[in-house]
Amino acid sequence: MVRLAPGSAEGGSATADPNAVAFSEDAEKTSRRGSPSGSQLQSLHLVTKTPTEIQIPAEIRPQDGRFASGPSKVRSEAVAALAELAPNFLGTSHRKPGVKEIVGRLRTGLTDLFALPDDWEVVLGNGGTTLFWDAASFGLIDVKSQHLSFGEFSSKFAKAVARAPFLADPTVISSETGSHPMPVGDPSVDLYALTHNETSTGVVMPLSRPTNSSHDALVAVDATSAAGAIPWDPSEVDCYYFAPQKAFASDGGLWIACCSPKAIDRINRLANGPRWIPAGLDLGIALDNSTKNQTYNTPALATVFLTMHQVEWFNQNGGMKFSAGRSNALSSHIYNWAENSSFATPYVQDKAMRSPVVATIDFDQSVSADQIAAVLRANGIVDTEGYRKLGRNQLRIACFPAIEQADMEALTSSIEFVVEALTSA
Ligand SMILES: Cc1ncc(COP(=O)(O)O)c(C=O)c1O
Repeated sequence: MVRLAPGSAEGGSATADPNAVAFSEDAEKTSRRGSPSGSQLQSLHLVTKTPTEIQIPAEIRPQDGRFASGPSKVRSEAVAALAELAPNFLGTSHRKPGVKEIVGRLRTGLTDLFALPDDWEVVLGNGGTTLFWDAASFGLIDVKSQHLSFGEFSSKFAKAVARAPFLADPTVISSETGSHPMPVGDPSVDLYALTHNETSTGVVMPLSRPTNSSHDALVAVDATSAAGAIPWDPSEVDCYYFAPQKAFASDGGLWIACCSPKAIDRINRLANGPRWIPAGLDLGIALDNSTKNQTYNTPALATVFLTMHQVEWFNQNGGMKFSAGRSNALSSHIYNWAENSSFATPYVQDKAMRSPVVATIDFDQSVSADQIAAVLRANGIVDTEGYRKLGRNQLRIACFPAIEQADMEALTSSIEFVVEALTSA
């Protein structure tokens, strides 16, 4: 069977203009527009092997082939610990000591990990980060928010807020994909919405309070893919929220928000004010339950346990220094490899913006990243595909702390093997 390399029906688009990507329903069309033209296709490499025909030798394959940017690798040790505890934990009441103790350990563990001041609270509830955006629209934004938009996820909170009839139109500051904008102090803004790590593009941003912001303005940070692997300073942030299916190597469906006293005051004021807030989205109710080490409605107990286990694993081994150190070593390896490669290059040009947790690697026209990902998948190395809406000839590789360094090194060896096999076919 003859297959086309880049730009085939499902292929990436090596020639796509990165700045032309719109993170909307139109993005798929945009990505198709960015695909190589017919004449360009003529010059692309013809590949004759199907993914299953290329076998990566066992000696160079990673032991664990999970490189997804979320849900990401769950450590076998955590699963084994859950199985051991299961008879006294799974299937027991979340209002009773067995489960409340685990929730308590999770909250204390996060307080230690992030070195949160004593007057902060770790609040949690069901529904993941997406639900937290809705809860924050009701219970964290007073009137007007400012959002930084630099990829799929950072654009979504702004879209949710824009539809809320009781809020003013938000300000949205965008930048080209592959970079990030900075917040701009504005006295009319009462919440600045930042994203610590944009998972779709692999861009990390520094967290700092904008100058000229009003005294009681909050800085709220979506840290879904950063939390637990990228250090941050609580004095620059009021609400650091995330879901645990990434660096915390758990399952999705839970949101966790570390809240400063200023954020707690805002939550309590809005929860007790005239605004109608559905109970399941009421941060006041969530806060009240969290301080009792429980959630308002039934959580997935396995998710809570796995998150707690990962937090304690970090803390027992040196905390953020340990977890961030692991991610830094993993991402340094892959970026260095790409920089020295003849066919791959890091997508994010500015090194300071290169994510230590999600590495996006562009491939040149000699080879299709989609085909590399397909061969890797057929060999048990999964979820390295680029972010679909970005529409580039790209692999996206998670560097979360659960991943072993030896496996990352084996991944780059495997990619080299696959590229050689595809291009010499
Ligand atoms: C930065 C970021 N924000 C938000 C989300 C959405 O999280 P959830 O699926 O828990 O709603 C994701 C998911 O990948 C993400 O990476």
